[in-house]
Amino acid sequence: MALYSEKVMDHFRNPRNTGVIENADGVGEVGNAKCGDIMKIYLKVEEDIIVDAKFETFGCGSAIASSSMATELIKGKPVSEALALTNQAVVEALDGLPPHKVHCSVLAEEAIRKALQDYYGKRDAKDICE
Ligand code: FES
Repeated sequence: MALYSEKVMDHFRNPRNTGVIENADGVGEVGNAKCGDIMKIYLKVEEDIIVDAKFETFGCGSAIASSSMATELIKGKPVSEALALTNQAVVEALDGLPPHKVHCSVLAEEAIRKALQDYYGKRDAKDICE
C-alpha cells in the first residue's frame, strides 16, 4: 500500500490557495519547533464568512497538503465552523496521513486558529475605534 493517499499527493503536487492575501483580515503563523517547518495562513472575512484563504508553508509535503486541504475546507464557511476545524478533519479529508506525519496537520489547525484570533482582535479593535 502506498504511504501517501492520492489526495495527499494531489494537494502536495498541486496545492490550492497558495500565496498571500494583501490586507488580510486575519493572519496566523505557527511553527513546529522539532522540524523547523513554518505555516502562515491568511484570511479574508466578510460578514463572518471566510471568503478567501491562502497559505505559505515552508515545510514537508504533508504540511503543504494539509494547508491546501485546510484552506479548501474553510473557504466559504462561517468563522465559527473554521474555528471548530480539527487536524483530524484535515487528515480525514486527505484520506489519511501516515502516523508519523499526523503532527504536520496540527500546524494547519493551529495556523487557522491563530489567524482567527488575529481576525477577532482586529475586528474588536475596529469596533472600539468606530
Ligand atoms: Fe515538519 Fe511535517 S515534518 S510539519
